[in-house]
Amino acid sequence: MAGGAVIAVLSVASEAAPLVKTGGLADVAGALPGALRAHGVGMRTLLPGYPAVMAALEAPRICAEVPSCFGGPARVLRARGGGLDLLVLDAPHLFTRGAGIYLGETGADWPDNPERFAALSWVAAEIAGGLIPDWRPALVHAHDWQGGLAPYYLARSTAAGKVASVLTIHNIAFQGLAPASRLGSLRLDPADFTPEGLEYWGQISALKAGLIWADRLTTVSPNYAEELLSPAFGMGLDGVLRARRGQLSGILNGIDTQVWDPETDPLITPYKAAKGKAANKAALRAEFGLPEAEGPLCIVISRLTAQKGLDLLIEALPALLERGGQLALLGSGDPGLEQAFQAAAAHPQVGVRIGYDEALSHRMLAGGDAILVPSRFEPCGLTQLYGLRYGTLPVVALTGGLADTVIPASPATLAGKVVATGVQFSPVTAAALGAALGRVCALYAQPKLWRAMMRNAMAHPVGWDHSAAAYAQLYRDILGEST
Ligand code: ADP
Ligand code: GLC
Repeated sequence: MAGGAVIAVLSVASEAAPLVKTGGLADVAGALPGALRAHGVGMRTLLPGYPAVMAALEAPRICAEVPSCFGGPARVLRARGGGLDLLVLDAPHLFTRGAGIYLGETGADWPDNPERFAALSWVAAEIAGGLIPDWRPALVHAHDWQGGLAPYYLARSTAAGKVASVLTIHNIAFQGLAPASRLGSLRLDPADFTPEGLEYWGQISALKAGLIWADRLTTVSPNYAEELLSPAFGMGLDGVLRARRGQLSGILNGIDTQVWDPETDPLITPYKAAKGKAANKAALRAEFGLPEAEGPLCIVISRLTAQKGLDLLIEALPALLERGGQLALLGSGDPGLEQAFQAAAAHPQVGVRIGYDEALSHRMLAGGDAILVPSRFEPCGLTQLYGLRYGTLPVVALTGGLADTVIPASPATLAGKVVATGVQFSPVTAAALGAALGRVCALYAQPKLWRAMMRNAMAHPVGWDHSAAAYAQLYRDILGEST
């Protein structure tokens, strides 16, 4: 431990693994509290009381009533759940719903999403102000637009006093927009609805509120922290971020190396490095109905959205298949992309599963040779980290956290002692991806080299330790007790 008293931090997140997950935010929010413990941080996580969360609570007790919580009564529960120390906003009018946590039956956002997550953020500020009798955080750490208003409410609360805030940007594409007519229902001061404040092109932006009012801003890789300052990546908020660049830093995500451990993973046959790969690959091929092949078995585990660049893969696929490679894809999202991959699966060397399947994702990592991540932007990305750990070499676009986590095969990294861990391509185009797939096939055809890269990949540190220390140091810096 870094010395000094334990710092009490309230994490505010809209999802946290293993309780509720739509993407990497859940993995990060679920793993950070445990990783921070060794660094003198006691983190509690405030989550919405979705049905899946409520069902997982162990020994919940009511620790506060909130009679008027954005359209109905609510309570704050204290409980353990999913290995986390939780505070849960039990607000049935906001969170007791079927379908998705953000999207209704039709696939559209719940119309009251602004109020649902404003409520979460507002309750976070209330907790900082003493809502719960026996616990008060020294600092609030909010995530993405869903937590974006927490720093605002904190700054406007007299009760919260000097409680500081950090906002982490996981995905700037989602900005928490709401029409100006909702200022009242979101408990925002109309005087703050200015271009220097909450206003974003005539709308309210919860994310922008966080970018302005949080004491510090972080994002999930150093490279993306730089990229965010440019119009190409800032998605309209780069000006706001440039104004606060002194408070913005990038801290790389880690992964939970106990959950993602190829030697003990209960979801796969345990194996060591290259040895067990062959058996796992045979099982994976059988599962996807793929025949034996000369070339590498490439996998994709992803949301199917424009961010992930998988439309480029549809175009570049012949470059892989012509060289005897194969593709197994697991994903869901954009209906057009789902259809395109289902159509691609007509090829005997392509297998596709549309859906979300945690266990299958582990088996794919165990059996794949390479994992493809051709993202147009990627704040950090986690699947390439799983790939490293399972000896499934990442083939990534040169962007965001993908650039920070993979050592690309090049004449320099392959000369002498091989240090490469994967393949990178740039620009992010179908042609460059196709060329990269060609390089993957050429490398795969040199088994000694491929195995050396697998060994490097599996030895590459991908855990949380270093980054948890960086978060703890950031909290200490903010609280002015740098040790
Ligand atoms: P993002 O958060 O942008 O979706 P990340 O790479 O950070 O990207 O995290 C995605 C997480 O979601 C990973 O844990 C990945 O394994 C998981 N995931 C994505 N799609 C699926 C799927 N269809 N089935 C199982 N897990 C998935
Ligand atoms: C976001 C990003 C992804 C990142 C994840 C967790 O969803 O798209 O790159 O790894 O958050 O921080």
